[in-house]
Amino acid sequence: MSKINLNQEIKTIEKRLQQQIKSDDATLQAASHHLLKSGGKRIRPLFVILSSYVGEDQANEAAYRVATALELIHMATLVHDDVIDYSDKRRGKLTIEKKWDKPTAILTGNFLLARALEYLSEIENPEIHTTLSAAITEVCRGELFQFQDQFRVNQSMTNYLRRINRKTALLIQLSTEVGAMTSGADASTIRTMRQIGHYIGMSFQIIDDILDFTGTAEKLGKPVGSDLRNGHLTLPVLLEARRNADFKQKIASLHSNAPDALFTECIEQIRQSDVIIQSKEISAKYLDKAHQLLDQLPNENLKPLFEKLINKLQHRMR
Ligand code: IPE
Ligand code: IPE
Ligand code: MG
Ligand code: MG
Repeated sequence: MSKINLNQEIKTIEKRLQQQIKSDDATLQAASHHLLKSGGKRIRPLFVILSSYVGEDQANEAAYRVATALELIHMATLVHDDVIDYSDKRRGKLTIEKKWDKPTAILTGNFLLARALEYLSEIENPEIHTTLSAAITEVCRGELFQFQDQFRVNQSMTNYLRRINRKTALLIQLSTEVGAMTSGADASTIRTMRQIGHYIGMSFQIIDDILDFTGTAEKLGKPVGSDLRNGHLTLPVLLEARRNADFKQKIASLHSNAPDALFTECIEQIRQSDVIIQSKEISAKYLDKAHQLLDQLPNENLKPLFEKLINKLQHRMR
């Protein structure tokens, strides 16, 4: 196995992304470029490339196409998510809706998805296409369920876990699973890679939900407590509601036009509560499972690289 340099891999992906968002339409290109140059961790492509080393045919053209396409699909979901969430900022910069308008945002999301599909069309393995399409459908359902569950205080923990599995873990699971597929790995290795991605993805979204409370507006690039303000009841809120009847009642009284002071009070209460630690522990448990599975990988040199990435995710600020 040649030596993998993660920074070099990011550069390669970056070049392909730039290429793939080019368009005759100045608005679509400008809006996509705006999001692309705002940054982003590029973790999905990196997981694809790392996972493409588990089989015989390592880091081939298909792996780079899947890596690039998954970042484009991720970007498409972000653009639409920001419309759904009324977000002003993404990656520290204005969202497409705020810099342009809502139609431009919706159409840029569609454009990015189409460009991803076009890039994937060269890949001849039908299993890759069906796996990707099925996952994209589930991501849509995850976002839809989250919308339908807004401000619904009587929802189970399982409900929350199912939702974050769909809206976030699936795309990361897809990165490791399809990355492995491109290398011609056997079915059992592909399954292990899928599970690794699933556990990393679950842990990743729980951290995202914690950061929404513990971060600063400056570091997050959006206001603290945005999830709760949007009615998204995440793990810390559900944990606090489960043990504190007063808090639960307060959450039950929230709605999109509730007074700002009430939101601030609830957000402050979560920030002070040890449900933050509890949530971190739950996130860490998922990561433990990923670590255990990483031990089973046939390729010894891969493990430290996965750990490096995972570590970066666990200690990120946004
Ligand atoms: C943000 O994903 C959306 C979630 C699923 C939490 P990332 O945290 O990977 O976003 P970027 O790509 O680095 O901006
Ligand atoms: C983003 O979820 C998930 C998808 C885009 C499918 P969030 O709404 O939690 O992510 P942020 O906080 O806006 O990045
Ligand atoms: Mg959002
Ligand atoms: Mg959202």
